[in-house]
Amino acid sequence: MPDQNPKKKLRSTEWFGSADKNGFMYRSWMKNQGIPDHEFDGRPIIGICNTWSELTPCNAHFRKIAEHVKRGISEAGGFPVEFPVFSNGESNLRPTAMLTRNLASMDVEEAIRGNPVDAVVLLTGCDKTTPALLMGAASCDIPAIVVTGGPMLNGKLDGKDIGSGTAVWQLHESLKAGEINLHQFLSAEGGMSRSAGTCNTMGTASTMACMAEALGTSLPHNAAIPAVDARRYVLAQMSGMRAVEMAKEGLTLSKILTREAFENAIRVNAAIGGSTNAVIHLKAIAGRIGVDLELEDWTRIGGNTPTIVDLLPSGRFLMEEFYYAGGLPAVLRRLGESGLLPHPGALTVNGRSIWDNVREAPSLNDEVIRPLDKPLIADGGIRILRGNLSPRGAVLKPSAASPELLKHRGRAVVFENLEHYKERIVDESLEVDASSVLVMKNCGPKGYPGMAEVGNMGLPPKLLRQGIKDMVRISDARMSGTAYGTVVLHVAPEAADGGPLAAVRDGDWIELDCDAGRLHLDISDEELASRLASLTSTDAQPMSTRGGGYQKLYVNHVLQADEGCDFDFLVGCRGSAVPRHSH
Ligand code: FES
Repeated sequence: MPDQNPKKKLRSTEWFGSADKNGFMYRSWMKNQGIPDHEFDGRPIIGICNTWSELTPCNAHFRKIAEHVKRGISEAGGFPVEFPVFSNGESNLRPTAMLTRNLASMDVEEAIRGNPVDAVVLLTGCDKTTPALLMGAASCDIPAIVVTGGPMLNGKLDGKDIGSGTAVWQLHESLKAGEINLHQFLSAEGGMSRSAGTCNTMGTASTMACMAEALGTSLPHNAAIPAVDARRYVLAQMSGMRAVEMAKEGLTLSKILTREAFENAIRVNAAIGGSTNAVIHLKAIAGRIGVDLELEDWTRIGGNTPTIVDLLPSGRFLMEEFYYAGGLPAVLRRLGESGLLPHPGALTVNGRSIWDNVREAPSLNDEVIRPLDKPLIADGGIRILRGNLSPRGAVLKPSAASPELLKHRGRAVVFENLEHYKERIVDESLEVDASSVLVMKNCGPKGYPGMAEVGNMGLPPKLLRQGIKDMVRISDARMSGTAYGTVVLHVAPEAADGGPLAAVRDGDWIELDCDAGRLHLDISDEELASRLASLTSTDAQPMSTRGGGYQKLYVNHVLQADEGCDFDFLVGCRGSAVPRHSH
């Protein structure tokens, strides 16, 4: 029977708490699932927001994780309800999973707001699923806890460890350089992805799992426990239990996703050598909850931070070793003990401060999680570059770059778009040498559309055969978190939005100075203005304006990379007020 206790303020009582016609209807239809009367006694209803999909292989084990979350919810006296949301898997979805991050976030937001849930457990894993679910839940400002699916076990090839994604880039370059044959290349497929879970490098999925933990939105150790480790399922159960308490306490996301939490996350990203994609995703999550992050926050907070996690693609190891070495709590403790955790008092989902969670966390392997005085990179983090080529910023990850190229002046070799690049890069007569700067246009949020992960353009085969392993590359695209190289990304504004990148021509001199945060096209202001004025509308026309549907909505409303690539109409928290009923 409905509980009539007026002190209970749970959202779900708006659906199930009355003895009238509406309460009848809401309860009756739910009862077709075999739910007894006593489950409608006013206990918290906890949604399990599930991105399970066989087309998102990284999240394909999520039905089992959901079962363990349900155990925890029931054990703590809650009422679990699992529901599916759009699952944007990185490996299959075309043109890029980034195109649908905002769509997934809208699905999550409206599914939460319109349904009788008092808190949610967000089951995330593959790259875009973590930011999408946090964005959607932040828009609702409801109690929420993240459970990621965990990384895959280490990949294996010929008895050696290989890392997801990173091995693909390395093996493909070796194939193009003639160092291995096609059979050797293809034989790595099965060994690279040999268990359930997300990419096992410090790519975007691992980075975003670490960001969720550093932000305080998951229980300690969530980021690193391997997907197939039994402790992943223990953590899922504990998270379900905790979600019930969070619903009762009213511990909403806005109490956790504070500016202090984002500043902690930016510092942690530098310490772990995290993905450049985190710049875009954290900005978008912050925008939803009402925290105004700036690109300069990445320099101010992430700069001068040693990278101490020695994981691919910047270092040597994989997520399995990271967990066995102590995982993110060990990193947080090392930062905190040295005064490098900006806000140790920031609140986390378990009701404790982030410092209270990690103050006794053990560090078990100094090679994987290095001491601060023996870092992998002394000055890690993500560098923001500005100049006449990127007036609204661009990013570069020094830990994944070649140190000798971080200050460089070279002549541009220009590709108008991805197709032009593919056609031209294999041309043996292309005028290019190791000092050239490869420039690709029209791969930004509007231009691609969706801002594909193509910024780490493969090098010209003729240079690979000469043993060249890296060159300066510049684009308005993103780069997979598993990739590496001296790659300038996220140039804003993008070429398709009339940015100066559109004006670059073959042979122009370009200067990159990472320490100075400078990216400069060496032509006069007048020449740059004249070139931009002479661009025809088709030069800067986003590819999808000729199409329709969701892509059209995307191109018309997506913000630039420095603003997080969210839709202009989604920025800002709209809260969890219960919509009017329809019966
Ligand atoms: Fe899904 Fe890497 S492709 S986590």
